[in-house]
Amino acid sequence: MNTATRHDIAGRPDIEHLVNTFYDKIRGDDLLGFIFNDVAKTDWAVHLPKMYAFWETILFRSGGFVGNPLAAHARLVPLTAMGRPQFDRWLAVFTATVDELFAGENAERIKNAAADMANVIHAKINGVEQARYDFSKLTPEQRARYASYKAAETAR
Ligand code: HEM
Repeated sequence: MNTATRHDIAGRPDIEHLVNTFYDKIRGDDLLGFIFNDVAKTDWAVHLPKMYAFWETILFRSGGFVGNPLAAHARLVPLTAMGRPQFDRWLAVFTATVDELFAGENAERIKNAAADMANVIHAKINGVEQARYDFSKLTPEQRARYASYKAAETAR
């Protein structure tokens, strides 16, 4: 789709379209596909609706996601490689899918949220120092984003 025809992520139907397109690519990905298909033996009829709820909760505070993303990924660590290359690939595919389908404020928000969560999940499940909280390593954009998350949390 070219830029002129892309619109922003406006609600649940857009999220479902994004999630379906993303996991279609992931299932066939040489680095990540087998983790879902062979290691976790993912039941897509369960996982896809869960991910619609997850992203709807993040973008619009509706969707009712209930789960434990850290535990879901931590259990994969002894079974397969879950390092930086895997998270970088996940994020590259996610970002490319968002950019292919959508453009706008929510498209930017979902990419930022995905990048932050990829860093946090990667760090936590591998026991590495959390780059997110090492202020000296943050870009000015990340500092502004984390400050706005904190402000939103305090306001809740
Ligand atoms: C190396 C990258 C990643 C791999 C290989 C991966 C793989 C998986 C797998 C196998 C599951 C379990 C699916 C099942 O039930 O069979 C899962 C669940 C999930 N993943 Fe990922 N994932 C990755 C990165 C991410 C990132 C960066 C996010 C968030 C931005 C994310 C969000 C989730 C959520 C919300 C669930 C459901 C958790 C729950 O059941 O509570 N994943 N992932």
